[in-house]
Amino acid sequence: MDATPHTPTPLPGRYAEAHAASLRDPEAFWLDAAQAIDWACPPTRAFDRAAGTYGRWFPDATLNACHNAVDRHVAAGRGDQAAILYDSPVTGTKRRITYAALRDAVAVLAGVLSDLGVGRGDRVVIYMPMVPEALFGMLACARLGAVHSVVFGGFAANELAIRIADAAPKVVLAASCGIEPNRVVAYKPLLDAAIAACAHKPAACLVLQRPQAPAELVPGRDHDWAETVARATAEGRRAECVTVAATDPLYILYTSGTTGKPKGVVRDTGGYCVALAWSMPNLYDVAPGETYFCASDIGWVVGHSYIVYAPLLHGCTTVLYEGKPVGTPDAGALWRVVSEYGAACLFTAPTALRAIKKEDPRAELVGAYDLSAFRTLFLAGERADPDSVAWAERALGRPVIDHWWQTETGWAIAGNPVGLGQLPVKHGSACVPMPGYDLAVLDEAGKPVPAGTMGTIALRLPLPPGCLPTLWGSEERFRSSYLATYPGWYDTSDAGIVDADGYVTVLGRTDDIINVAGHRLSTGSMEAVLASHPDVAECAVIGIRDALKGEQPCGFVVLKSGVDRPTQAIEGELVALVREQIGPVAAFKLALTVQRLPKTRSGKILRGTMKRIADGEPWTTPPTIDDAGVLDEIGASLKGRGIGAG
Ligand code: COA
Ligand code: AMP
Repeated sequence: MDATPHTPTPLPGRYAEAHAASLRDPEAFWLDAAQAIDWACPPTRAFDRAAGTYGRWFPDATLNACHNAVDRHVAAGRGDQAAILYDSPVTGTKRRITYAALRDAVAVLAGVLSDLGVGRGDRVVIYMPMVPEALFGMLACARLGAVHSVVFGGFAANELAIRIADAAPKVVLAASCGIEPNRVVAYKPLLDAAIAACAHKPAACLVLQRPQAPAELVPGRDHDWAETVARATAEGRRAECVTVAATDPLYILYTSGTTGKPKGVVRDTGGYCVALAWSMPNLYDVAPGETYFCASDIGWVVGHSYIVYAPLLHGCTTVLYEGKPVGTPDAGALWRVVSEYGAACLFTAPTALRAIKKEDPRAELVGAYDLSAFRTLFLAGERADPDSVAWAERALGRPVIDHWWQTETGWAIAGNPVGLGQLPVKHGSACVPMPGYDLAVLDEAGKPVPAGTMGTIALRLPLPPGCLPTLWGSEERFRSSYLATYPGWYDTSDAGIVDADGYVTVLGRTDDIINVAGHRLSTGSMEAVLASHPDVAECAVIGIRDALKGEQPCGFVVLKSGVDRPTQAIEGELVALVREQIGPVAAFKLALTVQRLPKTRSGKILRGTMKRIADGEPWTTPPTIDDAGVLDEIGASLKGRGIGAG
């Protein structure tokens, strides 16, 4: 850390005033931002401190999110503009869906859902890949005031079952399969297994049959999507937008917590619409009518916000890309899509850049495309490593903007608000707090630390619009996970530094969450799976550095005494078990059998030291450990797999 005194440089542009105004007078700031939304009953006040756990946004307003994302644009003359550009290299399909066509598709599907008994406040689980019908499903729920919960396709049946049990959906929307470059993933058997494992049974499943792997339908429960929608269309069955309270939930999105049970992050309707609408011109500098390309997945928060809701709320064209950054067919795939649809910005994860850089280090494929409409590359999901950012800046000749997010917040906590006048980029930093975020770095006692000092990043309550008001059915867990550590603050569980210019650098999680290829995973849930193997006495999972994916999980297991089967066979079973129980997205490929785990005298496993050893970083033997030899054994077993400095 540079110890020389630093005079903060005044920030250019309108950011500083906007951020200060949002904290000085949040009522005025957010009521002004709320004008971007069509309200059934407009808010007379922005915030009610007395409601909810820390207050609620737009307590007296009503609206419908689908009306704001779809219908109002048709009414305003955007009916012929593309709302969704579906581009699927894995199936060789492209589709252009106008706002008018989107409105019709969503209205009919909402009619179908309504006939299946779905109404305001009911939950609908969506287990679908990146196909337009998944977006129709999300918006149809919003149209009815129902609450959707999208489950990422890379999760296994058990994870889906946990989410179905918690959300208790009336209906499940599913596709028969998803398509990965190397295989077709049959979703329907996973859905059937999940429902079989759950006490809660959805009344109906609407199944989109894809030709790559048509599914068997369960009579009486499952309905063929295309047939049902065709029938409803022929009968003129449509549902109109249902007005809901701004504080009503729009969706639940499950994310990894520190236990095996995921957290159901609740998103309210009004605050979310306002925050996203503010972000489009001010953070992303995108205008209505322009094309926005977010290469994430609708199973993640980034996909909810910037594939679906924000671009549509703002009257943009959104690109729905069912492919990968590499291999579909090559490392020029994202540039091809940006060029073909004239995208003004691209939003992806640093891991995607690393994958592209590995295959096309000289960025030769960039030159093959006309990127004249393209202005900015945005990155999020994990720390943007300075090498990859610098590479992309050189390759693209455009600003590369890192911004920091959590599923919980729904939109960026810190970023570089290009629309307010781009701030200087500092490699490795996620830039400055967005409006409404009163951010500080705290020490263990909860006291703000001086600039340049590392600590836990916390957000002073209240959180801005768009952020979670609670966890689904788990108010107590909401309080204990986020609000209890530092009273008056939301604990982000990210460690970091704020420098003298106010720039935030996020260094990593303070809990046992790891980030693998931009996917948030819980080592605790992987440990629970390993511990369920009959031969395992105890285990520890850590995230170790990976050049492509940022981190990869690595499990250490101690076998029960008397187990004399070959360790290699057991390790293979453990890898298979995590894939079967959590899913391929866990990317769990490394299980190591060790004689014992390093622990403190009080029995705490020294995961931090194990990680340092695996990452080849300098480490010392903590004074709280009796037998230093155990750490050498861990180092030797990692070295046997070519990991760490030994
Ligand atoms: N359905 C089923 N399986 C899926 C899946 C899905 N939707 N998504 C990923 N998987 C599988 C993959 O096929 C892979 O399986 P494998 O072990 O048989 O190879 C496994 O899950 C791990 O996937 P991933 O970690 O994504 O690795 P990858 O090699 O397939 O792809 C990247 C690597 C970098 C190209 C990819 O991870 C990527 O694009 N990441 C960006 C993530 C992102 O956008 N995050 C959101 C924040 S912006
Ligand atoms: P998720 O909830 O899946 O969006 O993951 C959130 C976590 O990803 C955060 O708590 C961070 O640890 C990490 N993360 C997301 N964006 C960034 C970023 N720009 N820089 C550093 N870490 C990030």
